[in-house]
Amino acid sequence: MLRVSGLSVSYGPVKALTDVSVDVPRGEVTAVIGANGAGKSTLMRTLAGLVRAAEGTAELDGEPVLGRRAEDIVRLGVSLVPEGRSTIPELTVDENLRLGGMWRTRHERATTLTQVYDLFPVLAQRRAMHASTLSGGERQQLAIGRALMCAPQCLLLDEPSLGLAPLIVTQILGLVRDLATQANVAGLLVEQNAVTALRVASQGVVLNLGRVVMSGPAAQIASDEELRHAYLGY
Ligand SMILES: Nc1ncnc2c1ncn2[C@@H]1O[C@H](COP(=O)(O)OP(=O)(O)O)[C@@H](O)[C@H]1O
Ligand SMILES: [Mg+2]
Repeated sequence: MLRVSGLSVSYGPVKALTDVSVDVPRGEVTAVIGANGAGKSTLMRTLAGLVRAAEGTAELDGEPVLGRRAEDIVRLGVSLVPEGRSTIPELTVDENLRLGGMWRTRHERATTLTQVYDLFPVLAQRRAMHASTLSGGERQQLAIGRALMCAPQCLLLDEPSLGLAPLIVTQILGLVRDLATQANVAGLLVEQNAVTALRVASQGVVLNLGRVVMSGPAAQIASDEELRHAYLGY
């Protein structure tokens, strides 16, 4: 389990997160929802070691996560799929995937690469093509595939559905849930689209202006009309 406690993060005078606590159990997806600017990406970037926390702790299976370098956090088992599909357009699909998990042995990486291609057959078909030629949905699969190359214990996904057609979104989020349940990964899914996220998640956390305003079973959050009107705008 990934356990985040009392996390606060500031960008200079801007307080982006205040006293955020969230438990992310293995084997399921926990959704973080909230409006634009709520602090969702800051939470993910802090957990990935890209932003420094002012206060608080995060532990993966009891091992401290914060305060390490980003590459050491990946080695610890926390892998981020950043907002905006960070694949490298000039590299082929295969080259993009091989950039993940560089510290692992040749054999481990070859095994995982086969698994990723099994999981995403379309990537196997296009392995020699430049990432720039992929559709949005395919590029998102590539970004997730690259994170999987690190053999993550905890997968952080920052708005994987952004800009994708509804059918593709359903496919990708379904896959994220299957990954969590089948590989016993702790999944933390950030979405602005609450309905979609809460459908695949077991637990949910609502962020507003950097604070947790509600957390609990996803179904309970999804059916809370007052909360929806107040923070989620639908
Ligand atoms: N690099 C940055 N420098 C200064 N302020 C930032 C930076 N990144 C985000 N912020 C601010 O922090 C707050 C939270 O942003 P963010 O985590 O990106 O929210 P979300 O992902 O929920 O839209 C916002 O007020 C945003 O303007
Ligand atoms: Mg964001």
